[in-house]
Amino acid sequence: MAAGALGACSGIQSALDPAGHEAREVATLFWVMLVGAAVVWTAVIGVAVYASRLKSGPYDDAVGHRVILWGGVAFPTVVLAGLLVYGLGLMPKLREPGEGLRIDISGEQFWWRVTYRPKDGAAVASANEIRIPVGERVEFALTSPDVIHAFWIPSLGGKVDMIPGRENRLVLKAEKPGAYRGACTEFCGASHALMAFSVVAMEKPAFEAWLRAQPVVPPKAKGQDLFARHGCGACHRVSGRDAKGEVGPDLTRFGERATVGAGLLPNTPENVARFIRETDVLKPKSKMPAYGALSNEDAREIAHWLGSLR
Ligand code: CUA
Repeated sequence: MAAGALGACSGIQSALDPAGHEAREVATLFWVMLVGAAVVWTAVIGVAVYASRLKSGPYDDAVGHRVILWGGVAFPTVVLAGLLVYGLGLMPKLREPGEGLRIDISGEQFWWRVTYRPKDGAAVASANEIRIPVGERVEFALTSPDVIHAFWIPSLGGKVDMIPGRENRLVLKAEKPGAYRGACTEFCGASHALMAFSVVAMEKPAFEAWLRAQPVVPPKAKGQDLFARHGCGACHRVSGRDAKGEVGPDLTRFGERATVGAGLLPNTPENVARFIRETDVLKPKSKMPAYGALSNEDAREIAHWLGSLR
């Protein structure tokens, strides 16, 4: 049993075999907590064995009170407070921002969408394998379009939830080149257990050469993505896109038009966002439902994208 248990302590997916700064901090925290727990456990079991097996005869009341006061109140308060302060003290360092490279990761059902966003240079799209430079604090921006996933690379650090409508940040620094394994650690559907990924930590020059050699894929505008996701294309047509609806106005060259809503308001991003969210107020009884559930920010993203269609 011990051999089986210890076999999990090393390898490409073990929090106890850290290859990165953050994972090392967490592994150290684990060992400190384990030693603390072992000391407390030994003391408690020792007292229990003494009281039940070794000591015979009645107890002195004064001794009993002292044992409760020191062993039951003072000792746990000091030990637990010490471990708490130590554990909380690690957190600010793990929250510091990254050094340049940002990688957007989106948890999909059931795979990983990866977009590299170097500080200077164009975005590069990829999936299911993440490459990072050794020795640099890389910032991951984590999100998901539909259900909650969790991002964890045990050898490097984590884990952080990927929540629809939110962007969570995680900063990791790999210290050793190598290939590590990550996994989804939040139940996200039938194939939750089938969405692993690999992380390849490369020496910085090799990483930069690799990134430069990638074909740059122009990332889809966020507004375009939202337009598709909220089904706007079911009613509106945008030529050349997956939007073929005939119910509402054709929006193929919407950016060229002077007004939004058939002469209702000047065509500005603010007005378009307002039209999307308050259709029922601005144009009563029209066939377009008001998308009041969209955040103002998302409605503006759609408005900006529509405005760019010329
Ligand atoms: Cu994705 Cu579990």
